[in-house]
Amino acid sequence: MSPADRSLTVTIDGPAASGKSSTARMVAEALGARHLDSGALYRGVTAARLRTGGDPDQWTEQSVLEAAARVTLAPGATTFAARVDGAACEEELRGDAVTALVSLVAKMPHVRRWVNRTLQATAAAHAVVADGRDMGTTVFPDATLKVWLVAIASERARRRVLQRTGRPPTSAELTSETAELEARDRKDSEQTRPAADAVWLDTSGITQAEQVAQVVAWVRDRERERRKP
Ligand code: C5P
Repeated sequence: MSPADRSLTVTIDGPAASGKSSTARMVAEALGARHLDSGALYRGVTAARLRTGGDPDQWTEQSVLEAAARVTLAPGATTFAARVDGAACEEELRGDAVTALVSLVAKMPHVRRWVNRTLQATAAAHAVVADGRDMGTTVFPDATLKVWLVAIASERARRRVLQRTGRPPTSAELTSETAELEARDRKDSEQTRPAADAVWLDTSGITQAEQVAQVVAWVRDRERERRKP
């Protein structure tokens, strides 16, 4: 796939475990763009602050911002990796300690501003497919295409367990995973919104390949519209 025009910006927003990241990554690959994972940046800031130590109840916004200065985004072939203290740390970013505290960090207005500026500066130089919660509303209001992913919590929970364990969930696992996702949805509800001009994609009954094909087709339509005299 030839590299996309660097003015291309696609946003994919939705609640936790709605398939944003995997869809965004595959759409980016199909378009010759790079996946920009805003959640990974919030996770990177949280991991950096955790490394500094201290009781999370006492974390000040200033101390979290100081930690953010140790987080960078490194461009790879099809994605950007969040690095903390100069090194990739994917496992740490996805671990329970970071997941438990990331919503607290993401509530801090100056941290959100820092993340948003970092994302915007990155997208100014590259074609990106950005995923998160407020990419279409706040960070990239002029995106080429905005997608809002929808899936009910129990379906998201089923996929998450399947991804983690490689088998379908037991009913106890489904119940606890659904409750956990609903709790995170509540914590993140303020910033999790569809843009008024987003196209909605209900992923409940379709495969990942179908989701990706649909988003790529929408992008192609937008690009054709844009080229019309
Ligand atoms: O998408 P992911 O689960 O990795 O995001 C981790 C957390 O980062 C979310 O639960 C949310 O608190 C925060 N986040 C956010 N805004 C975004 C992306 C992520 O507040 N655009």
